[in-house]
Amino acid sequence: MNNIYQNNRENILKAADVIKSGGLVAFPTETVYGLGANVYDSQAVSKIFAAKQRPKFDPLISHIADVEILRTYAATDERVFALAKRFWPGPLTFVLKRIEENPSIDLACSGLRTLTVRMPNHPIALSLIKESGVPIVAPSANKYQSISPTTAQHVADGLGSSVDMILDGGACKVGVESTIIDLTGKNVVMLRAGGTAKEDIEEFLGEKILINEGNPDLPTAPGQLLRHYAPKNMLRINAEKPENDEYFIGFGDIDGDINLSKSGDLTEAAANLFAYLRFADNKAVNGKIAIAPIPLNGLGLAINDRIKRASYHK
Ligand code: TXA
Ligand code: MG
Repeated sequence: MNNIYQNNRENILKAADVIKSGGLVAFPTETVYGLGANVYDSQAVSKIFAAKQRPKFDPLISHIADVEILRTYAATDERVFALAKRFWPGPLTFVLKRIEENPSIDLACSGLRTLTVRMPNHPIALSLIKESGVPIVAPSANKYQSISPTTAQHVADGLGSSVDMILDGGACKVGVESTIIDLTGKNVVMLRAGGTAKEDIEEFLGEKILINEGNPDLPTAPGQLLRHYAPKNMLRINAEKPENDEYFIGFGDIDGDINLSKSGDLTEAAANLFAYLRFADNKAVNGKIAIAPIPLNGLGLAINDRIKRASYHK
């Protein structure tokens, strides 16, 4: 079944109808493709967990197209709006305190007293949210623990007919998930490194932010699980050169069978990361992949986080 729909007005309206009637729509964002449902429709939200085969309910990010809606369901302050003004639309997600007793969003929030929200920087995502008239909750549109999707075809390969419509927006420009920051306390705490560089947030706030990498046995975010984003084959990271039988993903001057960015550009490398991991997974005839060292600055932090988890084996 081909459920990939090209980007045009008619298909966006059709997708909005699917959202409004309780279905699932996969849509492009600047980071990765999301698997979306109406935040207020628990039945639709539970279909997301079934399609992803997530073993338990985890809180989901609400995607909004208008900052003002925040006032209706989250505790906001000047810091929240200042960060939103600087970084939205864009790959930065806020964890905020919930203010309303709206039980219909309990499942989306996993029963927590917090709510997680971002405004994606993608015209298709923003139109879909506006036409649906509700915030759209969306985890990455892939099966639990597998590599995140950065094209419509990746979504179709992973989720098939469990999603009603896949809107095709081409390849995602950023390529790694949003950075998640917890704004519920005095200090800003980063829960997941992602598409917004930590340095940029710190420069804007004029202070260092804390990092909570989480307790892997009790993750605040599934992204904090030791094994996540994983290819089928073994992955070795920080490899200066490949062993004979490894399929090698290079970076910068350390060239490989493929190279995340020959010029050593971390933004380009992030955009290529998940697609190249999939590609290598198909090419690695001996079951082994290796990847060159990636620096830790800028988007390198998110890239290292993802490949470290992808390489984890018990
Ligand atoms: O870039 C992104 O963020 C993509 C696109 C589709 O927007 N979405 C995404 O969603 O990566 P997901 O579900 O794959 O990852 C969201 C992470 C999860 O690890 C979840 O546990 C965490 O955010 N999270 C959500 N709400 C939370 C909360 N209230 N407190 C702590 N972590 C939370
Ligand atoms: Mg995910």
